[in-house]
Amino acid sequence: IEVPIAPYATCDRKSFAFTSARDRWPVILTGAIDDVHRAIVAIDDEPKRKEGKTILEGLAKLKYELQHDRHLTPLVDDGKPDIPSYNKELELSGNPKWFNVPWLFAECYLYRRVHTLFSLSDHWKTYDVFSRQKMSTFRSSRPAVLELAAKYKELVSQLESDVKSAKDPEELDAAERILFLEMCEICLWGNATDLSLLTSLTYEDIQKLQGADARKEAEKNILVNDLPAAYKVLKAAQNAGKKDRPVDIILDNAGFELFVDLILAGYLLAAGLATRITLHPKTIPWFVSDVIPDDFAALLGALANPQGFYSTPDEHSDQVPEALSRKEASDLSFLFQHWAGFHAEGQLLLRPNLFWTSAHSYWQLPQAEPRLYEDLKASELVIFKGDLNYRKLTADAMWEPTTPFTTAIGPMGPASNVRTLALRTCKADTVVGLPGGADERLKGMEDGGGDSGARKWAWSGKWAVAQFCDGKA
Ligand code: F6P
Ligand code: MG
Repeated sequence: IEVPIAPYATCDRKSFAFTSARDRWPVILTGAIDDVHRAIVAIDDEPKRKEGKTILEGLAKLKYELQHDRHLTPLVDDGKPDIPSYNKELELSGNPKWFNVPWLFAECYLYRRVHTLFSLSDHWKTYDVFSRQKMSTFRSSRPAVLELAAKYKELVSQLESDVKSAKDPEELDAAERILFLEMCEICLWGNATDLSLLTSLTYEDIQKLQGADARKEAEKNILVNDLPAAYKVLKAAQNAGKKDRPVDIILDNAGFELFVDLILAGYLLAAGLATRITLHPKTIPWFVSDVIPDDFAALLGALANPQGFYSTPDEHSDQVPEALSRKEASDLSFLFQHWAGFHAEGQLLLRPNLFWTSAHSYWQLPQAEPRLYEDLKASELVIFKGDLNYRKLTADAMWEPTTPFTTAIGPMGPASNVRTLALRTCKADTVVGLPGGADERLKGMEDGGGDSGARKWAWSGKWAVAQFCDGKA
């Protein structure tokens, strides 16, 4: 299905596409080069070292081609079925150069190409070049992690005692609704801290973004908030006594964001607003911080042994980390047990799919991946986390910002039978569903872009949207 509006492209100097290609991607590639260097130093095995050097050359070549505006070359076939579709798309778009190519395609191509360098090797096939960064940022989220773990434990105990106390159902419903909104907002703002933007945020900035006060303060930065509508459908399904009420979360970033996604998932299960949660991670290292199954395992591992995890010094500070208090350690282990319990019961599932790392926008989902599409239709609610998922939902097109969300998501919109909730902090130009005048007002604010024609307010993760589409005809 054709998208009626053109996508953002790297040639558009006013868009974040151009800034990304010129300033951010070289930094990200340099980070990858540094990481492989560090890994090689620690390796004794000669054949593996040798291959590591070949990977370094490949990364340097890619960076050179990008910075010298060369053509995007066809991806070397690493045996995975997504390669032909990447190369076909490349051909269809007339073998573009780096600074004249649709942003979404180029960025996906970049990460897919990096991955081929590893997947074509013998010794580095499963190496995650971004893993070090992901774990170390999670470590530096410690204050917020501890705060949320304590809150979660309180909340789950509260839910259990509410059920027993037979309180007035209306009162309970009102309380539950507020909690749902809060849990979703925690989950939403967890997206503000992704690593591909770290080029512009400090670690102190990140910690500030994560605490409870920051969330209250940030509520006014949610430009469109459809969370009440999402609550209504989950509550209605529960009240209707439906036995199976799955919710799907299309994940975005690892570390703190995954942690808050699990907080939301655990809350939905504990409150009976869902009976099963399927998490959809990526299959290969993606956009620096996105979740792959190993990150999920690493997060649970950290919670299983929190004292050990937090006694490793953080590479971004020279302070020796303080040991966790008894209560802190016990709150974290409560979380671990709760989640591990759901996982063991089959209520918390992980389902990777290659589609999430294709260059396709979600306008192509029904045709490109019909089975996945069917699965999502069976869900009570599909929560799409983050900026990239939002760009893919809206085909990263240059929509008027007042275009209804339901229009901009095309085939995923009305009559798709997929119920969509996008939780996204804005880190790219595309934004839809805003009330008239909002874009102009935001542009007029400090660093908003003014009359330059650039929608700068939407680049930093400071503003957010929570948008819902029922998927009915
Ligand atoms: O716009 C900056 C950016 O890094 C894009 O490259 C990408 O769309 C997005 O942010 C990644 O953010 P998220 O992790 O929220 O999808
Ligand atoms: Mg991401």
